[in-house]
Amino acid sequence: MIRLAVLLSGRGSNFAAIYRAIAAGSLDAEVVLVVSNRSDAAGLAAARAWGLPAELIENRGLSRAAHEQLVVQRLATAQPDFVVLAGYMRLLSAEFVAAYRNRIVNIHPSVLPAFPGVDAQAQALAHGVKVSGCTVHFVDEGLDAGPILLQRTVTVLDSDTAETLSARILEQEHLAYPEALRILAGGRYRVVGRRVVTGNSEAELNHPG
Ligand code: GRF
Repeated sequence: MIRLAVLLSGRGSNFAAIYRAIAAGSLDAEVVLVVSNRSDAAGLAAARAWGLPAELIENRGLSRAAHEQLVVQRLATAQPDFVVLAGYMRLLSAEFVAAYRNRIVNIHPSVLPAFPGVDAQAQALAHGVKVSGCTVHFVDEGLDAGPILLQRTVTVLDSDTAETLSARILEQEHLAYPEALRILAGGRYRVVGRRVVTGNSEAELNHPG
């Protein structure tokens, strides 16, 4: 059983998908802490309604460093194995990332390394790609740049708007995040440079190509 701390800022539908997978018994994990930096985040209300340890740590009026310090202190008490970013609209410092190397995961609504940053779905449409999707990755010091755990794709339709494409990608996100966390819960993976190797056998895992 892995201990998860979830950081979010808004809707929280990915958090809900993770919570549902745990409740359904398909993900061997426990949510030990949910932190929102926004009081109006639906994800925070959901966490409270589900009786999870949930905290509002507002960033308003604080420097980036001071806010992060509060989050880091709370994480130190919660002792998660992994920090799960689920629509957390704050950049993490290099110190935070280094302290949780390969233990912070994020989901991004594009097939990285294409279209990092904000409005990834609109970026994909504007570029005219025929396939897009989502990526679950470890967080490193770059923007949406760390080692990739898992990707799922969707076909871009001629009729797509940013809204319709986002909605279809989101359906895949809700499958991808629990699936990626299952890899972490299983413990059968290694990070080799930029690659996350999951291997079918012990030999493959220990000696990736
Ligand atoms: C998702 O599209 C995710 O890929 C991105 O932020 C959005 C969060 O949505 N990082 P939700 O709060 O999980 O519903």
